[in-house]
This record gives sequence, structure tokens and C-alpha cells, in this order.
Amino acid sequence: MQVLGIESSCDETGVALIRWHGQALPELRAHALYSQVDMHQAYGGVVPELASRDHIRRVLPLARQVLAEAGSRLDEVDLLAYTRGPGLAGALLIGAGVGCALAAALGRPVLGVHHLEGHLLSPFLSADPPQFPFVALLVSGGHTQLMRVQAVGRYELLGETIDDAAGEAFDKSAKLLGLGYPGGPALARLAMSGDALAFALPRPLLHSGDLDFSFAGLKTAVLTQVRRLGAAPSPQQRADLAASTQAAIVEVLVKKSMRALRDTGLPRLVVAGGVGANLALRAQLHDACTRAGVRVHYPELHLCSDNGAMIALAAAMRVQSGCANPLCDLTFEVRPRWALDAI
Ligand code: KG4
Ligand code: ZN
Repeated sequence: MQVLGIESSCDETGVALIRWHGQALPELRAHALYSQVDMHQAYGGVVPELASRDHIRRVLPLARQVLAEAGSRLDEVDLLAYTRGPGLAGALLIGAGVGCALAAALGRPVLGVHHLEGHLLSPFLSADPPQFPFVALLVSGGHTQLMRVQAVGRYELLGETIDDAAGEAFDKSAKLLGLGYPGGPALARLAMSGDALAFALPRPLLHSGDLDFSFAGLKTAVLTQVRRLGAAPSPQQRADLAASTQAAIVEVLVKKSMRALRDTGLPRLVVAGGVGANLALRAQLHDACTRAGVRVHYPELHLCSDNGAMIALAAAMRVQSGCANPLCDLTFEVRPRWALDAI
């Protein structure tokens, strides 16, 4: 069986072809990604209408590229999959529309997939795939959640952010430091030459006793420090503030993840979403999990941020596990707001 997956929820157009046999782990045959970062950079963030229009231009050429790389033809695709939500409504409609149009042309079924389920299952494409059950730390631009994952489709929310997401905290702090969009990777780069102990920044809800997060206060604290440094901070001061900000976000994510592992008694942690690419987070989780005797799994670095492979994979695993029954019904709707534990 082969599934062609389309991701278009935000500012990346992703297409991928995944193959599976019976109950064996699906295998990635080819994937292609087009990032709109250069286009949105001039505006300091994603412009939804521009994102939608660009997805229209990219999606079919990317699909052709993927099929060519895999040495496969469109009529050898058995199932179409697209991101149904959450995300930008107009952007989601492009993937949904193209997915359903291809399904109609080919007479094949089609499946709308939850974007976060894609992130959460993406480590199954890595060289070191996890086993169920596990605790998942989902850290993206819009979400910060800890989930108990029993099996495909069995997700229980353990805790989440009550305001900004971890990725948002990275992005907003980066903006305050005068770094471009997207801020997370830029702040992480600047932090490499800084001293994480230079600024005392808050660790919101660190000792709240639950598994919720809050990052809005951290952004305000970074703003206060930026103002204190004045109009022309030295390169070292900026690097120190970046390192201190990253340390505050990472410490909260690590401590809450370890707490979730203790509370649930589960022996495995899966980290997914764009912030999962952060090397400081990976290093500290590695240390904490080694001390606790817990295994930690990640997606391959290039599959941490949005991509089509995770959407095709989630569709394949939903079909394999009997969670989804793809239909030839071509009616579609997108869900810009959609809780993962509601699927
Ligand atoms: O999962 P993702 O690609 O898109 C969403 O579904 O939101 O996550 C994007 C987020 C952005 O906030 C970006 O700044 C952050 O992930 N990010 C990082 C790093 N790479 C991406 N944050 C910190 N360190 C990184 N290396
Ligand atoms: Zn994402």
C-alpha cells in the first residue's frame, strides 16, 4: 500500500510517499519540502493569504518530484492524505482540496489527518523508533502539550500551556532580541556563544505540581532585560540573554517531562514538533532520561518541523491500526482549531 501525504497547515508545503506492508512499520520512500520562510521574512511573521497562494503553486510540482524520486506513478498511489487541522484555514484548504481532487481523479480513498498526530508519530520513521505506550512532549510553534500515548489514536492530555507555546516563547524572545523570523533556530544559534547563567529569568509554573506550562511571563521578563540593556547592547550581552532565555524554556520542558514520566510510570518519552530540534533541549533530556533510566526518542532532525512524511505516516498508521476507514467520500472540511485528544 502506498499513501501520498500533503502538509499545508502553515508556512511549509510538504509532500511525501510512504509504503507499508501489513502490520510492518511504514517506510518513507521520498519526501519534498518547500519552505516559505524567505517570503514571510519581510513581514516578520506568516501572512496567511500569501501562505495559501504559495501552497497552490508548490503542491503539485512537489508531488511530481516525490513520485519521480520514488520511481512511482500517481496511479500507484492507493490512498491520499492531507492535514485537516489545526492550522491556518486558507492554507489547510489547499492541501485538502488538492488531496480530494487527486483522490477523485484516481478513484482512491482520502483521509484528513491531525497535524499534531503527525508530529507525535514522526519518530516511528527514525532509525530508533519507539514502542507504545509512551509519554509525548509536543513542542511546536502553536502547541506545548504532554500526552499519554497508549496506541495510535489513544491520546490523553496530561498538561499543556495556559498561554504561549514553547515555540512562541522562542519566537517572541528572538524578536525582542532583534532576530528575524523564524526566531527559534536563530535564538538557539545566538545562545551557543552566551552564558546561560548571566540573566536570572523566571521558570513559570516549574513548581506548580501539575503538568501545565506558561511562557507569557518569560517573554515579559526578556522584554524588561532588553529595555535595561538599552539601545546598543553588546554582542556578548545579546548572546547571554539568548542563552538565559533558552535555558529557562528548556529547564521547564525537561522538568515537566520528567514529572510526567514519574506520574504515569511510563518508561519512554517521545519528543516531537519544531522545538524538538533544539540541541540544548535534546542534550538536557538525554542527561535527565539517562539518570532516570528512561528511553527518549526523537524524529530525525529534518522531520522535526512540518513535513509531508509525518502526515503520510499518520494516515498509514491509522489505517494499519484500524483507527481510520478512508472513504471515497470527497466532502471535506478543515479544522483550524482541533484538540488532539478529541479525534
Ligand atoms: O512544528 P513546527 O515546525 O510548526 C508548528 O506546527 O508550529 O514548529 C515551529 C516552531 C517555531 O516556533 C520555531 O521557532 C521552533 O519550532 N523551532 C525551534 C528550533 N527549530 C524550530 N525552537 C528552538 N530551537 C530550534 N532549533
Ligand atoms: Zn507542526
